[in-house]
Amino acid sequence: MDKFIIEGGRPLYGEVEIQAAKNAVLPLLAASILTDERVIIHRCPRIRDVLNMIQILNELGCRTSFERETLVIDSADAANHEIPSALAKELRSSIFMLGSVIARFGKARIAYPGGCDIGLRPVDLHLKGLKSLHVRIEEEGGYINCACDRLNGADILLDCPSVGATENIILASVKGEGTTVVRNAAKEPEICDLQNFLNKMGAKISGGGTSTIRIEGVKRLHGVEYTPMPDRIEAGTFLIAAAMCGGELEIKGVFADNIAALLHKLREISCKITVKNDKIYIKGGGVRKSLRMIETMPYPGFPTDLQAPITALACICEGATVIVENLFETRFKHVPELIRMGADITVRGRAAFVRGVPVLHGADLVAGDLRGGAALTLAAVSAEGKSTVTDLSHIDRGYSGFEYKLAGVGAKIRRIRV
Ligand code: UD1
Repeated sequence: MDKFIIEGGRPLYGEVEIQAAKNAVLPLLAASILTDERVIIHRCPRIRDVLNMIQILNELGCRTSFERETLVIDSADAANHEIPSALAKELRSSIFMLGSVIARFGKARIAYPGGCDIGLRPVDLHLKGLKSLHVRIEEEGGYINCACDRLNGADILLDCPSVGATENIILASVKGEGTTVVRNAAKEPEICDLQNFLNKMGAKISGGGTSTIRIEGVKRLHGVEYTPMPDRIEAGTFLIAAAMCGGELEIKGVFADNIAALLHKLREISCKITVKNDKIYIKGGGVRKSLRMIETMPYPGFPTDLQAPITALACICEGATVIVENLFETRFKHVPELIRMGADITVRGRAAFVRGVPVLHGADLVAGDLRGGAALTLAAVSAEGKSTVTDLSHIDRGYSGFEYKLAGVGAKIRRIRV
């Protein structure tokens, strides 16, 4: 098991290049089996979730090669419709495979998915959407079995704007008969990326990024070469790092519009931020005013995936901050760890009440989930004294070379194998 050894308290200076978005790449990988021609994905991040998804594709019979940052998927010989339980449990995004596997083979079998333990994370909306497209679904012994004779277009209203359910319905209906309309769809930028990718393969999808998406079924999709959008959550993590540690960072290869909610908050606490094309410059440190109130919401609201990092920042801001987590029930696992560093936080249900302290102190920390682990690493990098962070497998799910990027801008952090 790996751990980070961190000596905190240094300001950060330099450039950070942002990877392609985990949450964009994963649905693209699921989409790759919708064609039997070659799919080439550039700037693909070497993170654990992507590697698990590649393993799922291999299990289905695809041939994949991943050299440097280019992933090539050839699913001409794919013949298996079952996603093995061990892999499905590793990765929640395996659920996207349901839509594309059923579209390709007319049947699919998958174990209930895993992923970060941040609450209930049901898949009812995914299944309800697929049923509307005339998929027959049976759930037995922890498995979801799906079959259909043909996928018929439908008018679907999502009870809540689930990102995964929106993507799964798009994947299932893109080669269906007739037109599918998804109402109250998620508006996250990663959905636009999926739409762009599929349209480049010959799909007819419109409305991505709005709450109504229209998919006109096409007979076939062809191969594609594609560079996914930048990771707005990784960019946000490094912006928060600069706000916590002080110094000046240039975050490169990012769409500032996609993290407007965070940029507003960072400006409120008096960080200096300049946006130029695909670069964001941030000057952090000094007196950080109170963040006051943050509520996580579907896009374009404040993203739940940045809730843990911004909670770490709130710990060293002036005054009180109230943080309300509206999306996931148990996404405050980083809080007891932050308290051990000297933070003053009370959690009641879905709200965390944070009273700022001047500084956090180093401690031995355990990463409980992906974004919580990143938040604790930032807290340790900004804190006085020495810290360790264990259970890095969570962080490795979503950040490639996290410690190298932090060390590259002046943090004293290294990974050791214990
Ligand atoms: C995606 C992101 C994840 C992010 C989340 C919210 C990927 C790979 N992951 O996860 O990083 O934190 O969006 O922005 O893109 N829900 C149901 N029933 C369902 C599906 C969801 O009730 O069938 C609820 C969930 O419990 C949650 C809310 O809908 O409260 C949003 O979840 P959803 O948007 O589906 O998140 P994911 O797609 O799992």
